[in-house]
Amino acid sequence: MIRAVIFDLDGVICSTDQYHYQAWRRIADELEIPFDERVNDQLRGVSRMESLEIILKQSKSGKLFTSAQKEALAKCKNEYYRELLNQMSPADLSNEVKETLLELRARNYRIAIGSSSKNAGLILEKIGLDGFFDAVTDGTCIIRSKPDPEVFLKAAEALGVNPEECIVVEDAEAGTQAARAAGMRCAAVGAAAELGEGNWQMEKFSELLGIVEE
Ligand code: BG6
Ligand code: MG
Repeated sequence: MIRAVIFDLDGVICSTDQYHYQAWRRIADELEIPFDERVNDQLRGVSRMESLEIILKQSKSGKLFTSAQKEALAKCKNEYYRELLNQMSPADLSNEVKETLLELRARNYRIAIGSSSKNAGLILEKIGLDGFFDAVTDGTCIIRSKPDPEVFLKAAEALGVNPEECIVVEDAEAGTQAARAAGMRCAAVGAAAELGEGNWQMEKFSELLGIVEE
């Protein structure tokens, strides 16, 4: 029996893809590293430092970076990114997502965020969902990023439910793998759904209301 739903944030509750893309693009351009949507797709669900490693790997020059330089680049990307996040508002939360969340809550499901992002708190505040979820487990609470199951197991623990009582909602392949590793079923949206990942592939977010009752 399903008692809880754990939502990824970026690409599930709201769309921040274009801001991540713009911020990484700026860094890649400064370093003269080729960067496009294909590389950006590989960054979905992956931590900031791992994303940077993927970008640096595209470099044609073979230039090596020290840990301190990498830290500085990641910090700089995050500054660009947070500047872009400032334009987000409750208008970035779709009615469909909002109504589905409210209906899950009305049916007494426990709901949590399970995100790799260290900016989850800021984003939730921007879109008007600060304090809405029963638990928020994000990049600030974990050691290992998706596809490791840590973020989802911590969210389940915070909700006081067992993994098999949870459904994860994910848009990233790394996230569907993390859900599987956590022993949780997964409803895929967006890119992950297009890849046929997860136990269900949703075209519409509201399909979740049927899935939890299956
Ligand atoms: C994930 C995004 O939610 O968070 C990734 O899908 C991102 O693209 C990761 O790299 C880490 O985000 P942040 O906000 O901590 O840099
Ligand atoms: Mg995501």
